[in-house]
Amino acid sequence: MTMEQLHRISDWFDSFVATFCGKTTAEQRNYELKIVHTQQVRVCSERLSASLNFTPEERALAAAIAICHDVGRFPQYQRYGTFNDAASTNHATLALQTLKTAGVLSSLAAEDRSVLLAAVALHNVFILPPELDPLVRRFAMLIRDADKLDIWRVMIENCSAAPDKRASAVFLELPETGRCSRQALAEVVAGRMPNRELLASVDDIKLLQLSWAYDLNFSESFRIMNERNYLESLANLLPEEPGCRAAVEVVRAFVLARLAES
Ligand SMILES: [Fe+2]
Repeated sequence: MTMEQLHRISDWFDSFVATFCGKTTAEQRNYELKIVHTQQVRVCSERLSASLNFTPEERALAAAIAICHDVGRFPQYQRYGTFNDAASTNHATLALQTLKTAGVLSSLAAEDRSVLLAAVALHNVFILPPELDPLVRRFAMLIRDADKLDIWRVMIENCSAAPDKRASAVFLELPETGRCSRQALAEVVAGRMPNRELLASVDDIKLLQLSWAYDLNFSESFRIMNERNYLESLANLLPEEPGCRAAVEVVRAFVLARLAES
């Protein structure tokens, strides 16, 4: 992808998101959250691309994927008033429809377009399928890491903000019970990410996000996670109880091992 093509996609994104306007401050905050998230995912993606010695064309493609990955969030929130895919629609599928309708990718080379669309489609699947074109896998791994790294920021910032300044849609409308579910904790202790069906509370979402460390793909991602102190900040958001402490210990040991390898 050329820089000119990337600039065109970036300009389209700016004008696209400007068409969404919340009726209340709270609604507007949810749109703004996704605009800032997209910018920050792009920053992370550029750092990962550099660490992987991508060519300038590959870096531009990775940046374009970052810009496009969550465009489905805007019509999703406008139509359904939620970021909860299970209660509305898959926002990655909505992103593909949005990009196609806008025609924003029509000038791209066919291979760039198909890698971009596949990476956007795969950015939010629970686990990447084993059979994937190697190029698609590489870009999908990159956007998934960049996305997780910035969602951690969103979660940590949102939890530390005053309740009236929080973006309401971050917690997917789950109840604040002050507890993590036992099955979700057992999954994390076993070294796995808990399936979304096991999530029953806001604390389960925090636990799931902590367990995303298991799914990070690149050494640079672990370095960014460490630099930004995400693991400890997320751990501090979890309930003070032995089950959560045990789960945090397992994730911490995993992250430290990966950092030591790199
Ligand atoms: Fe997303």
